[in-house]
Amino acid sequence: MPQIINGKEISQQIKDELKLEVARLAKKGRRACLAVIQVGNDPASSVYVNNKKKACAYIGIESKSYELSKETSEEELISLVEKLNDDSQVNGILVQLPLPVHIDEDRIIRTISPDKDVDGFHPVSVGRLWIGEKGFLSCTPAGIIQLLKRSGITIEGKECVVIGRSNIVGKPMAALLLRENGTVTVAHSRTKDLKDITKRADILIVAVGKKKYITREYVREGAVVVDVGMHRDENGKLCGDVDYDDVAPVTSAITPVPGGVGPMTIAMLMDNCVETMRIREGKA
Ligand code: GUN
Repeated sequence: MPQIINGKEISQQIKDELKLEVARLAKKGRRACLAVIQVGNDPASSVYVNNKKKACAYIGIESKSYELSKETSEEELISLVEKLNDDSQVNGILVQLPLPVHIDEDRIIRTISPDKDVDGFHPVSVGRLWIGEKGFLSCTPAGIIQLLKRSGITIEGKECVVIGRSNIVGKPMAALLLRENGTVTVAHSRTKDLKDITKRADILIVAVGKKKYITREYVREGAVVVDVGMHRDENGKLCGDVDYDDVAPVTSAITPVPGGVGPMTIAMLMDNCVETMRIREGKA
């Protein structure tokens, strides 16, 4: 039987640790505030944004909500981000993605001050990650590292294969596994003989974005499998990029969907928010 990696439990543990830390900092008069900006009212984004605000309330961080109409211009959004950059009461700025098509996402991400970049998407944060400097980490990959570590899985010296090369998951995932002394291969849509590559993996991170794509033919016996995908199957049930029922029996450990990687993203966002307080404390 594989070890089922429980993201719900581990994310709760992290949020409880952060709640204690925030209470300790509050006693010294330190407070944190996260500005959350949503443009338009995409229902999925609204659910994510609400969950982020709830997590803030839980750990004791103030959140300020900016709900802008989908007609908001790029310049208006830039002005708001610049205003929040200059507001010393605001520690972190999160602009929920995706943005309406008339707004250049990259330009918005680059406008957020790297000191308030709690998503870890700014090129400065990305650069810091690759050269091994302290900085904000992209939340989903940082959450996966925590899942592995807190489940007693060693990364050092392991063959790690990441499927997917997005800026939000695949690339920062590769950087983080490398930082943990894993041997890392990044596979993607143009990779030839994908099965041969994934079969080498001691740790297989799957972010392909295709429902139940990874079957047991892709997985070495005893591998650890982490599933970043989130879809609905033919019966309307949540499922991942991995065909869980087929793959789980050949693994040594696996993340379920839901309840695996998903809850970790918000926990690590909260960690980045608390990091802004730690940095301020260090500077004070
Ligand atoms: N949309 C989907 N995931 C994310 C995320 O982690 N951060 C932001 N800002 N938008 C998202």
